[in-house]
Amino acid sequence: MSDHDLPLARRDLARRYEAVRRHTLTLAEGLSIEDQAAQSMPDASPAKWHQAHTSWFFEALLLRPFLDGYRPIDESYHVLFNSYYEGLGPRHPRPQRGLLTRPSLEEVRAYRRHVDEHMARLIAGTDEARWAAIAPTLELGLNHEQQHQELLLTDALHLLSCHPWRPALSADAPARWPTGRVSEWISHDGGLVEIGHDAAAPGAGFAFDNEGPRHRVWLEPFQIASRLVTCGEFLRFIEAGGYREPRWWLSDGWATVQAQGWKAPLYWIEHERADDPARTGDGGWSIFGPHGMRPLDAAAPVMQLSFYEAAAYAEWAGARLPSEPEWEAAAALPGMAQLHDQAWQWTRSAYHPYPGFRPLDGAASEYNGKFMVGQLVLRGGSLATPPGHTRPTYRNFFPPAARWQFTGLRLARDAR
Ligand code: AVJ
Ligand code: FE
Repeated sequence: MSDHDLPLARRDLARRYEAVRRHTLTLAEGLSIEDQAAQSMPDASPAKWHQAHTSWFFEALLLRPFLDGYRPIDESYHVLFNSYYEGLGPRHPRPQRGLLTRPSLEEVRAYRRHVDEHMARLIAGTDEARWAAIAPTLELGLNHEQQHQELLLTDALHLLSCHPWRPALSADAPARWPTGRVSEWISHDGGLVEIGHDAAAPGAGFAFDNEGPRHRVWLEPFQIASRLVTCGEFLRFIEAGGYREPRWWLSDGWATVQAQGWKAPLYWIEHERADDPARTGDGGWSIFGPHGMRPLDAAAPVMQLSFYEAAAYAEWAGARLPSEPEWEAAAALPGMAQLHDQAWQWTRSAYHPYPGFRPLDGAASEYNGKFMVGQLVLRGGSLATPPGHTRPTYRNFFPPAARWQFTGLRLARDAR
């Protein structure tokens, strides 16, 4: 059956499935077989594991329950590549994903093809009644794979940052970030605003369960910065002794600074010797990124920092982080720059369910809701986010000490 015989909505999903799956392979292209198997820390996963786990998601949530007679390529993969779904049985421990030297990368690629072939069969051969149950999970699987595309990049970058060569992740990574502009304070009057995804709105597209329901929030008048904090600005915090002065830090943040010996954002490296040939950047700093090591670019947004560092910088700067409702309300205002294309922006909001939140049904109920404790919300999107993946209601989340993602900050303050 050619895909032209499919109903339009189904043909569209089938084509998006192919495009998203292909893009994952493209992202792994610059990495060697050895790069793709290693795990640099418990929070990060090998690129090979990401490629397998995203296939597992389609297999576990769609092929096993919905494709009659489906035969997995290998039963053990159901355990190896289950990330955190208690309802789907036992799992290989996350900190030991780097020890999975078997299956080989080649076998994982064959697993992907096996899943793709059967997904094509499922999409083409299902009757309309079953399709209604399949389509939302297929859509979720595509958005899930896009989340892992960003994780694959951030995890691979962390791995490469641990290598003395500091190799470039990608030859075509941007050589320079878009030049920064003057930061302006943009005013919001506050009042009653609505935030969150409205699944019932006409033409509502996909959103994760944690983005809804849409609900009302009261805001006091506030101001928010038109752009992200830059490396040049953050350098002044460092030079003013920011990492040595407890008064700017939350208690947990200061404890982390001391325990981890933090002196700068994750990928900043200070050249101690003035004659170091790499010492060309502002103040003798270089920053590791997708392009390898580069001299600090004062106009580039600062990234790879934790919530603790973002909050300390804001305190030092006489400002604060925006709350997530403030961020979302402000995103619609004219003049707001760098919303989705540079770095995720830490907010001061805990990752909690919105009023009326209901997790998805079945296995997907574990997707987001069970992580709603001890994490902070980030808004926006980053240069590693696949285009079109994010939206103004999108809620990313990480624990406050996490700093290996493309995470930066935008300042806010109370209206004066
Ligand atoms: C939204 C990025 C925090 O890393 O676990 C991947 C994305 N969810 N598989 C995560 C996710 C399920 C999630 N983050
Ligand atoms: Fe996942």
